[in-house]
Amino acid sequence: MKKALFVTFLLSPLFLFAQSMHQLQPQLAVGSLFPPLDFKTIDTRSQHYPFSLPPLSFATNALNPYLDTKTVELHYNLLHKAYVDNLNKALSGTPWEKSSLKELFINGSKLPVKIKNMAGGYWNHSFYWYCLTLPTPIKTVPEPISSSIIKDFGSVEGFKNHFKEEALNLFGSGWVWLIQDKTGKLVIVTTPNQDNPMMDFSPVQGKPLLTCDLWEHAYYLQYQNHRGDYIDAFWNLVDWDKVNDLFTRKD
Ligand SMILES: [Fe+2]
Repeated sequence: MKKALFVTFLLSPLFLFAQSMHQLQPQLAVGSLFPPLDFKTIDTRSQHYPFSLPPLSFATNALNPYLDTKTVELHYNLLHKAYVDNLNKALSGTPWEKSSLKELFINGSKLPVKIKNMAGGYWNHSFYWYCLTLPTPIKTVPEPISSSIIKDFGSVEGFKNHFKEEALNLFGSGWVWLIQDKTGKLVIVTTPNQDNPMMDFSPVQGKPLLTCDLWEHAYYLQYQNHRGDYIDAFWNLVDWDKVNDLFTRKD
């Protein structure tokens, strides 16, 4: 009887889940930092099928206390990976298999819904992780993006308030973005589901500079339904050097 119960436990979803988390979790101490992700991680022009899960720049426990370990583990190891796997399955054998990620996005309105959702889910999450770094007590916004933020939003605090307000106003799941539109102006937009501002049907299009995941899986374990608290904590993790680098890139 005891043996039967033990075998049942070994085959249970709970045990298999715990096993997979143990195998996938980077075994590093808090504060460890991997080599930072380079621009190739998010360059949509150079990425093609088959896609792979990009590594994180940090251990899954390194964003505490602003994003707890369990949230990062679930989000990255299971959800982001699922988007990668499902994108590859959805593209396999289709005419879109040879398209770059950029080509998929600018043809977003023509894509089968599953490919559009999985391509967005893959890249949006890669970009989200790319924008994050270890918590530091003071995060100053570097030049020249600081001056542009002040020009377009009045102040850095004004920008953060606007970003949070847009995030709170998004009904359901999606993303909030800081983008640079075609005129060079900085704009805050939200997109539903796994859409992004590079997709051809997006009402406001532009170059993403920063994003925050507003799906409940990104924060519910730690912040429950308090999306605003999650956004407040998010500012402690933003890698402003990366945002500034994207802002100044001409390629
Ligand atoms: Fe997510």
